[in-house]
Amino acid sequence: MRVVEHPAVAERLALVRDAATPGAVFRRALEELGGFLAYEATRDLPVIAGSVETPVGPAAVRRIAPDVVVAPILRAGLGLLPGFLQVVEGAAVAHLGFFRDPATLAAVPYYANLPDDLTGRPVFVLDPMLATGHSAAAACAVLAARRAAAPRLICAIAAPEGIAHLQAAYPGVTIVTAAVDTGLNEHGYIVPGLGDAGDRLFGSASSVPSGYPAGAGGGGAAERNA
Ligand code: URA
Repeated sequence: MRVVEHPAVAERLALVRDAATPGAVFRRALEELGGFLAYEATRDLPVIAGSVETPVGPAAVRRIAPDVVVAPILRAGLGLLPGFLQVVEGAAVAHLGFFRDPATLAAVPYYANLPDDLTGRPVFVLDPMLATGHSAAAACAVLAARRAAAPRLICAIAAPEGIAHLQAAYPGVTIVTAAVDTGLNEHGYIVPGLGDAGDRLFGSASSVPSGYPAGAGGGGAAERNA
């Protein structure tokens, strides 16, 4: 577990928390957070030694191994993705979609697009909000079933409940976040948090895919990202 307290991170965190921040500024600040947090989360990635020719001679270099996988949790994880990809340009992107069951707050999968075999590959799960931890744990389960290496979760804000849930389900998980907040409210939202990250990113009202499952759509707050 790593809480990144760099002033550049704190500045972006202030922007995304502020309810008065316009959507375009929110998107840019979240993207930049994705880059800064990815920089911290990838510190111990394996590198491959090689050499290049500079204009004045050979130089030993180290490069990121080409097997990194990044898994944004739809929708809001997409907000961190461009920043992550600036840090690890060659990462393969695994899209994982979950919505929150309004009654149980459980993470219900609705989309998964990723390679069948991730044996030993380093995986980074992206979700700005680690709230109940249900969707993050469900994402880790999908990745573990495909034999990925121990997952790392990159989030902007984590709640103690989500940290405890995820660490209990995946003791090997590494969580990299910009803040740990007080807790969850009765709707499963982080307090003080930043509100609904997906809605603020996309100006929309629900992460539930239209018509799936019957009756789940409609944009109630409790139906949004798990
Ligand atoms: N998802 C969000 O977007 N915000 C929260 O506070 C919790 C889950």
